[in-house]
Amino acid sequence: MESLRKTRLLRMLLVDDDEDDYLIFRDMLSEFKNWEVQLQWISSYEAALELPKPGFYDVCLMDYRLEPGNGIELMKKFQKDGFTFPVIILTSHGDHEVDMEAMREGAADFLDKGQVNSQLLERSIRYSIEHCKNLEALRQSENQLRILSSKLMEAQENERKRVAHELHDSIGASLTAVKYGLELEVTRAGEGKRCLDGAVLGQLTSTVEATIKDLKRIYGNLRPLILDDLGILAAMRSLVRQFREVRPNASLVETIDAEEHEIPEGIKIVIYRIIQEALNNISKHSDADQVELALSNKRGIVLLSIRDNGRGFDLREILMEDDHRHKLGLQSMKERAELSGGAFTIVSSKGKGTTIKVTWPVS
Ligand SMILES: Nc1ncnc2c1ncn2[C@@H]1O[C@H](COP(=O)(O)OP(=O)(O)OP(=O)(O)O)[C@@H](O)[C@H]1O
Ligand SMILES: [Mg+2]
Repeated sequence: MESLRKTRLLRMLLVDDDEDDYLIFRDMLSEFKNWEVQLQWISSYEAALELPKPGFYDVCLMDYRLEPGNGIELMKKFQKDGFTFPVIILTSHGDHEVDMEAMREGAADFLDKGQVNSQLLERSIRYSIEHCKNLEALRQSENQLRILSSKLMEAQENERKRVAHELHDSIGASLTAVKYGLELEVTRAGEGKRCLDGAVLGQLTSTVEATIKDLKRIYGNLRPLILDDLGILAAMRSLVRQFREVRPNASLVETIDAEEHEIPEGIKIVIYRIIQEALNNISKHSDADQVELALSNKRGIVLLSIRDNGRGFDLREILMEDDHRHKLGLQSMKERAELSGGAFTIVSSKGKGTTIKVTWPVS
């Protein structure tokens, strides 16, 4: 079984000013069975400072005693220069203080030269590399989280701006017109004119009607009231109706295979927003003439799927575009789905349309 395992390349840097130690480590490394070790030995502190490009090694063994500095100082310099490989600090005599300092400063492990053997060394390297990979994954996910929260703040700010403009342009403007109309009537009354001006009042009534309509549209966008009043199935049909109005040439087939009570309350708004964004994308980007929208609850799994036969796209290309950070639709669909306990998949390829599927396990 052992012989079937593939040997992997291990690029290792050893910084140690003692040639005997280098020879001992070289012998130990030659005993490694699953790794083919490519060892580079650097014999002084100064030579280590001259090292070129970071990221070239899988692991570094670093002697603590390195005149004129020490191994921990050198490791910190490496880290500052962007080297991300794990560093294992070596001492000739186990020194608890050095061990603690090495750990604090980010060393992956600490080994006593007097006690190390090939097996121990192999194990320490394996653990150090794995630990370093996990740290890197954590760093990346923290980074993603940072990008995401800044995107969310940006989206929130944009939404506030949009609502402020809408309120200013429609409600603000209409109320100003109503105020002038009313003032006119008040002036007329002040001048002793008893009867109201029918034309002005008629105008005011239709302005108020239009304002109510605008207001409904604005709060309807903020929170789909139809969802609270009539439920997700009615809300879905309303989105379907809106899509048909905007895209009369595309045929949209909806298949609803679930009762209202079979869809958990908590995911209704998620379903609504995902359908809304997916249909928006279809009408903005796809040029599809056939669209299928389906919602079902079978054997405890709620499945939402939205498919179009439009131009499709290459997700990798989209992610590489400079402005992809400003495109929020796909990202927010995925995040909404996952935050609500669902699994989100999107399959799309150029010329072959796009299919979005979300499943939620429900009891
Ligand atoms: N159904 C679709 N058919 C074809 N292309 C699509 C479809 N859905 C998305 N795309 C492509 O994927 C890109 C990313 O979509 P996404 O919804 O994230 O952003 P957007 O629609 O461009 O902007 P936003 O949704 O933030 O207003 C789109 O710009 C488009 O190129
Ligand atoms: Mg979009």
